[in-house]
Amino acid sequence: MLASMKMTKEQKYRLLEQAEPGELERLAAQAESCGWRQRYHIQPHMGLLNDPNGFAFYDGKYHLFYQWFPLGTDHGMKYWYHVTSSDLAHWTDLGIGLTPGGPYDSHGAYSGSGIVKDGKLHLMYTGNVRDENWVRHPYQCLAITDGHAIATKLEQPVIGSVPPGYTDHFRDPKVWQDSDSYRCVIGAQRDDLTGTAVLYRSKDLLDWTFEGELQTSLSSFGYMWECPDYFELGDQGVLLFCPQGIEPQGERFRNIYQSGYMLGKPLESDRQTFEHGEFAELDRGFDFYAPQTTQGPDGERVLVGWMGLPDLDYPTDDKGWAHCLTLPRELSLRNGKLIQRPAAGLIGLRGEQITFSAELNGESRSFAGVEGAAYELQVSVSPAASDCKQGMFGIEFRTGENERTVLSYDASSGKVTLDRSQSGASLSPGYGTTRSCTLSSESGDRPIEFRLFVDTSSAEIFVNGGEETFTARLFPDSASTGISFFANGGSAAFEGSFWSLRENAIPRGLPTGILEHGKVKP
Ligand code: FRU
Repeated sequence: MLASMKMTKEQKYRLLEQAEPGELERLAAQAESCGWRQRYHIQPHMGLLNDPNGFAFYDGKYHLFYQWFPLGTDHGMKYWYHVTSSDLAHWTDLGIGLTPGGPYDSHGAYSGSGIVKDGKLHLMYTGNVRDENWVRHPYQCLAITDGHAIATKLEQPVIGSVPPGYTDHFRDPKVWQDSDSYRCVIGAQRDDLTGTAVLYRSKDLLDWTFEGELQTSLSSFGYMWECPDYFELGDQGVLLFCPQGIEPQGERFRNIYQSGYMLGKPLESDRQTFEHGEFAELDRGFDFYAPQTTQGPDGERVLVGWMGLPDLDYPTDDKGWAHCLTLPRELSLRNGKLIQRPAAGLIGLRGEQITFSAELNGESRSFAGVEGAAYELQVSVSPAASDCKQGMFGIEFRTGENERTVLSYDASSGKVTLDRSQSGASLSPGYGTTRSCTLSSESGDRPIEFRLFVDTSSAEIFVNGGEETFTARLFPDSASTGISFFANGGSAAFEGSFWSLRENAIPRGLPTGILEHGKVKP
């Protein structure tokens, strides 16, 4: 069976042990032979990856899990797959972290979060159950792990029902410690079919009390909020969530579903009211959803997102695999905005540095050795004083005979645009082929700084030290490796550095051990 063919319910909700003989090996080999496999992003050995889950610093390293359906590229029976890292750049493959298939997660171990308690990593997640009439029943479940074995699930859910006033779209608990107890926020849909989030409190992670709805000023903002996350950064409370059903507004909200944040006053322990500012998108690109954060050992707040979106087809679907995670990003605040910078440890992937510089005026040029399919590229573009309000400056990358991906800065409007209309195999054409955002006005007087992380089938672009990011899957030909810089209608000085990037250490191919007992053999 071709993985791209839509699967039946029966095929989608199979456990690994129900795979046909040889099916897993076939899928893994098919995925492995795909030319769009990433080099240094976390990707599934086969099947479909979606949300990052259970992200936590535990026992001296980061533990990260992701939603995984092994047997195809549909959203089917979800497992949690487990990887660890001490530098957020090189990852160790640990195999399955959490298995579905019990009475309270018979149709998938859906998204959730991790928290360390009593020396163990506790995973709180949504058990997805469909009854004989295919009605959805969400249970909030708990599983405990020492980080090596598959997590042990509690027999009963810790939140066994949906409180009155909400539908069965009730999932994705994110837990945090709040003085001497724990709180969690869960994505929900009100009975009137609007999206929201609710709060629970617990002393021990086992017994949870419903606190009520998280009170925001958004009484009607989409029909469902998925994957909420709450944390504090500096003197701000930050709420991340993924509202579904928001209409596009100019440059904003162009993707099928949105992912963004609101800053506000930190939530008080005994209150559910969040006084907040405007909802802002986290990423201005095409493929970004369901991010989750955790706190690192030095208090840093790190975010990882899913580099993909639900309900869209991707060009690797018929190669037996789909999606990857974004690079980890460190969060900070500047001028009332969330700033995202690639995790510092990523410099550990760099090969040799090539530096370059040029003054360009109405021309385009490239530099010897500055090309590839997996690299980091930093460029600062300083329009000439006379041209700082005119001209188009930028970078064409993954260029080939008929392909190019274009990142441009329009000095007259302050607009940055990513254009993937000629990037190779097309995807989600109904949602447009360009994404833009207008930089804050003070950007006009300083150089524009671009930092690109390009991998075989993606680009993550950090603008002006992470003031804006653009994340996109790209599916070019493997021969499209060119990079050139251009200045049209004005002159600008370009200065930059280029590094090839090494692999992230996750072995290729289906790891041994995973078929017998879920875990990768050490
Ligand atoms: C978001 C999401 C979550 C859910 C999970 C299932 O992408 O729909 O709400 O828990 O994916 O895989």
